[in-house]
Amino acid sequence: MPIQQICTVVEKTWLSHDAVYMVLEAGDMVRQTFRGPGQFVHIKCGSSRLLRRPISVSACMEDSPEDLLSLVFESRGEGTEWLANRAVGDKLDVLGLLGNGFDVDWEGRYLLVGGGIGVPPLRGCAQCAQESDAILGFRSADKTLLIDEFRAECGSVQIATDDGSLGYHGFVDALVRKTLEQDRDYTAVLACGPKPMLKNVAKVAKEFGVPCQVSLEERMACGVGACLGCATPMADGTMKHVCKDGPVFRAEEVDWNA
Ligand SMILES: Cc1cc2nc3c(=O)[nH]c(=O)nc-3n(C[C@H](O)[C@H](O)[C@H](O)COP(=O)(O)OP(=O)(O)OC[C@H]3O[C@@H](n4cnc5c(N)ncnc54)[C@H](O)[C@@H]3O)c2cc1C
Ligand code: FES
Repeated sequence: MPIQQICTVVEKTWLSHDAVYMVLEAGDMVRQTFRGPGQFVHIKCGSSRLLRRPISVSACMEDSPEDLLSLVFESRGEGTEWLANRAVGDKLDVLGLLGNGFDVDWEGRYLLVGGGIGVPPLRGCAQCAQESDAILGFRSADKTLLIDEFRAECGSVQIATDDGSLGYHGFVDALVRKTLEQDRDYTAVLACGPKPMLKNVAKVAKEFGVPCQVSLEERMACGVGACLGCATPMADGTMKHVCKDGPVFRAEEVDWNA
């Protein structure tokens, strides 16, 4: 059961002109509701905004006196702009931890594939597995996030940028292909990013016979499975709630043509 908690902002840093890194003290939320990296929190962004905003947990830890959650988010619209303007010491009304995260085994070996703001949630996967390699894609060099943290936590890190300003010039799925051509001995590919990227990564993983899990994004209302705000079509013709059944799904469950 998710819990509602008044959390204190204990750290806040701008990572780029529109991306914020924020650490929250979250009572015993991690101890009570952690089910795997890739879960998210639903944050009330100001008293005038009725709907909360979903933000993935980038990393979290049980701590004393309070558990800690780190988030990375882009200021895109009203809600996230309000959130980006909070300062250390401010309080936030947070519902969490929500959804099902990635299925990660400490003993496993994972290929983490992130695109843009989909990169931060994979940090938790790197911390939950003994061995992982990362492929991180960004629009350009000035949009990169958490590269040093992934370098510290993964065996290898490859970077791709859309404009070629850093690392490989192109999309992450091309690097996934090159990597799996040389070594397909991964427990799974874990991917988070825009849906077209996830579709391409899932296709390459399938071609090489490596299981793939993807984290989907849908606009959300309640965040707990009580409305139809986040319903998404599945390959078997059913609809699933991204908030409650996901946001992480096995790639073969998803209807990629919807
Ligand atoms: C499970 C989940 C996890 C997420 N994790 C993160 C995260 O870790 N960091 C982060 O920066 N963002 C994340 N998002 C996206 C984030 O929730 C939206 O950017 C935010 O709700 C926008 O609210 P707003 O009021 O600022 O903007 P709005 O004024 O509501 O919209 C501004 C812009 O954001 C787009 N947008 C709104 N909602 C979404 C959405 N759900 N997905 C994609 N685009 C959206 C709109 O189309 C519009 O272009 C996540 C979304 C989901 C569903
Ligand atoms: S947002 Fe209400 S069911 Fe998912």
